[in-house]
Amino acid sequence: MSDLSTTYLGIPLKNPLVVGASNLVTDISNLIKLEEEGAAAIVYKSLFEEQIQLESYAMEEEQNLYEDWDAEHASIFPMLGHAGPMEHLHKLKIVKDTLQIPVIGSLNCVNEATWVEYAVKMAETGVDALELNFYANVIDPEKSEEDIIDEQLRVLKAVKEAVEIPISVKLSPFYTNAFRVVKKMEASGADGFVLFNRLFQPDIDLEKEEHHYPYNFSSAVDSRIALRYAGLLHKQIHGTIVSNTGILNGSDALKMIMAGADATQIVSAIYKRGTSHVGKMLRDMEEWMDIHGYKTLDEFKGKLAKVNMNDPFAYKRAQYVDILMKSEIFMQYHPKAGEDIY
Ligand SMILES: Cc1cc2nc3c(=O)[nH]c(=O)nc-3n(C[C@H](O)[C@H](O)[C@H](O)COP(=O)(O)O)c2cc1C
Repeated sequence: MSDLSTTYLGIPLKNPLVVGASNLVTDISNLIKLEEEGAAAIVYKSLFEEQIQLESYAMEEEQNLYEDWDAEHASIFPMLGHAGPMEHLHKLKIVKDTLQIPVIGSLNCVNEATWVEYAVKMAETGVDALELNFYANVIDPEKSEEDIIDEQLRVLKAVKEAVEIPISVKLSPFYTNAFRVVKKMEASGADGFVLFNRLFQPDIDLEKEEHHYPYNFSSAVDSRIALRYAGLLHKQIHGTIVSNTGILNGSDALKMIMAGADATQIVSAIYKRGTSHVGKMLRDMEEWMDIHGYKTLDEFKGKLAKVNMNDPFAYKRAQYVDILMKSEIFMQYHPKAGEDIY
């Protein structure tokens, strides 16, 4: 029987399938089902500072509507303050107390001081680790990449100093050199990396001539960038490599391990196929390992990572490979390449 166990930010996991942050995990009954299906850990939905700010602002606005009320009304309905992050943290604590598997809290803030304040409060719920969701949707043309990275490094260092539990960072793929960013973050204390977040992209409704905001679910080809970075980073960093985006079935997860990831996060797969899909993914992974004679993940982890390969094409200028396919040198390495195209 194959053993799928792995380690995530120093935490032992029974297998590499972690449920990533999404609205799915806010429903405790979903979480119990996911745990029963074999999910190894869950990341709770991010606590967004902006959402708390918006809610506080909306509440203040609403209360201001009644500021002309007489004293009697005011004493019956006193001005209430917004509870800030307390509601989110309360729900997170319930999840942590309910599940047996590790629970990871996720944060996305705007101000440095709030990152630290919320991180400390989140750690107090008893979560096993924190994930800093460095989702930056930059629209300021004056802001340089260096500024953005420096800000994130400052936040990471400050949070790392403030809490004792392990910290992972979840990055977008849109850095000029994501490899360098990962190295710098590791030097600043990150214990692991979730690569990569799928950025939220609004669409346009042509009939209504307005934006709309559908859930962006991944398809299988979206996993290629995570696959490439797992392979590039394997044995180049000490921290945990967690592949994310486009991992829809057991074979996608196995490919990530073979490239060099320690674990994976899945979200779209569960939205599209239901909670039972986690169990199916695990069974498919075990079956593949049995057929191929692997007893543990370590036996094939990183087998196709850059450090273990002679193939000069796999990790270099991938966008040109399609063109190079016709060249003699490429055909020497891949004599069968392209057969299915022509
Ligand atoms: C509805 C929805 C809500 C999400 N909410 C969060 C969130 O709160 N925090 C976060 O870091 N990622 C969030 N994500 C991103 C997912 O965690 C994940 O990174 C992304 O969906 C890519 O993984 P997948 O291909 O398995 O879906 C959300 C995704 C979806 C679809």
